[in-house]
Amino acid sequence: MTTHLRVVRPGAEKAVGTAELVSEQELIALEAKYCSHGDTVHYADTPKIFDHCEGSFIYDAQGNKFLDLQMWTSVVNFGYANKRLNDALKKQIDKLPQVASQYLHREKIELAVMIAQDAEAKFGARGRVHFNVGGAQAIEDSLKLVRNAKNGKSLMFAFEGGYHGRTLGASAITSSYRYRRRYGHFGDRAHFLPFPYHFRGPKGMTKEEYGAECIKQFARLFESEYNGVWDPKAREAEYAAFYVEPIQGTGGYIIPPKNFFAELKKILDQHGILLVVDEVQMGFYRTGKLWSIEHFGVNPDVIVFGKALTNGLNPLSGLWAREELINPTVFPAGSTHSTFNANPLGTAVALEVMKMVKEENYEKTVPEKGAYFLKGLEDLKRTHKIVGNVDGLGLALRCEICEPHDSFTPSKVLLDRILNESLKGNLEYKGKPYGLVLNIGGYHKNVITLAPSLQINYEEIDMAIDLLDQLFHRVTKN
Ligand SMILES: Cc1ncc(COP(=O)(O)O)c(C=O)c1O
Repeated sequence: MTTHLRVVRPGAEKAVGTAELVSEQELIALEAKYCSHGDTVHYADTPKIFDHCEGSFIYDAQGNKFLDLQMWTSVVNFGYANKRLNDALKKQIDKLPQVASQYLHREKIELAVMIAQDAEAKFGARGRVHFNVGGAQAIEDSLKLVRNAKNGKSLMFAFEGGYHGRTLGASAITSSYRYRRRYGHFGDRAHFLPFPYHFRGPKGMTKEEYGAECIKQFARLFESEYNGVWDPKAREAEYAAFYVEPIQGTGGYIIPPKNFFAELKKILDQHGILLVVDEVQMGFYRTGKLWSIEHFGVNPDVIVFGKALTNGLNPLSGLWAREELINPTVFPAGSTHSTFNANPLGTAVALEVMKMVKEENYEKTVPEKGAYFLKGLEDLKRTHKIVGNVDGLGLALRCEICEPHDSFTPSKVLLDRILNESLKGNLEYKGKPYGLVLNIGGYHKNVITLAPSLQINYEEIDMAIDLLDQLFHRVTKN
C-alpha cells in the first residue's frame, strides 16, 4: 500500500508524492513550513526554484533562462549537463554503483594515483590521497591529520575572512563568529590573522607593501616567548598548522600579492608549522591551475579539495598530504571514516574529471577568458559609481558593490537589491529575456563573487557584462 503525505491548506487539499503537481507558490509555502532553514542560505526575498539546466544556463519550470555566474559556488566548473562527465556517472551506475567502503574499486585507486602523481610532479613530494564526502568533512579529516602529526597540538592559525565549512571543527577555524555564536566551543578557535585585502587595507600602501605588512605582523609573533605562540628554548610553536585559502572564496574572491605565500611559508618552516591549503572553492582550474596555490610558488604540506572534483554530480571530497604525515604507520586505517567516502559514483566522475582536465587546455583558456571578463568588469566600474573594486584570477572574479557617493562604503543593501532583480528573469539580451544567478560574498556581504562555467564562451561573457550593466542601472535609477 502506498501512502501519500496529505497537505492540508485552507480550502484545499493536495497529495504530495502523487501525479498531481503542486504549484510553485505552494511549494514555497511548504518549504517555509516543512524544510529546516538551518541548512541553507536564503539570499533572495523569495527563494527561487529551478527546474533544469544546460551549459552555462539554468531554467525555471516556466522555461525562463538564467545565465549562471556562480555555478553552485564553483562546483559545476565544467558546465551543466557536461556530456562526458554525465556519461561517466551513467556508466558507473550500470557497472558498480555501490560497494562497502572497506572494499576497493578500481576508480578510487586510479583517482588517488592521478592526484598524487600530479602533486609529486608539482610539489616534489610523495604523498597520498584520502577521501570523504564534503568540503567540511575533508577539513575535519585534515584537522585530525595535522593534530596527529604535531603530537596532538590542537591550535591552528587561519585568516580573517577565511571560510572552511560549518561542521564544528571547520567553524572553529572559520573567522566568522556568527557560525559559532549559538553552539559553544567544541574545538579550539583558530588564531586569526589579517589577510592582505588590499582594497580595504591601510591607505597609501601598494598591494605588495600591504602583503609584506601582514607577513610582518605574523613574524612578530615569533620574536619573543612573550608574544604568546613560540617557545624559543624548546624551539617549538604552540600551533600545529596554518589554514589558508590562496584566493579567499566566501571572503570575496580576494587575491593576495604573488610573493605572499612564499614569505608566509618561510616563517612556517622556520617554526615547524604545517601549511594546509584549502582548495575546496578555488581548485579544479577555477583560477587557471588545478590548484590555486600553484600561482604562488610554494609547496603545501596538505591540500584539501571538494566541490568541482565531481562537477557536482555526486558528493566527494578529499585531501592530499605529504607521505610522512599520512603514511599508514602514522595515520593508520580507521583514523577517519565515513560510509560514503570514496563512493564509486563520485570517484568514477572525479577520475573522468582528472582525465578530461589533462586533455583540455584550461591553463590557457581560463586565463584568456578571465582576462576578457575582467576587462568587461573594469568597463562597468568606469560606468557605475556603485562598483568600487573589480579583480580576478582566471575565472574567479570579484565585483565589489559600494555606495555611489564614494565608491567605497560597502553597500549590502544595493547588492541585495541587485540579487532580487537578477532573479526576476526580465533582463534582456538581443531581444530575449534572461535572468542571472549571482553569489554574494565578502567581509561586508557586498561582493559579487563570479564563478562562471570554465566552458563559458565569449558571447556568454558579453551577455554577462550586458546583463550586469542593466542590473546596475536598474538598482540606481530610483
Ligand atoms: C574554501 C572552502 N572550504 C571549505 C568549504 C566547505 O565545503 P562544504 O560546503 O562542501 O562542506 C567551502 C564551501 O564553500 C569553501 O569554500
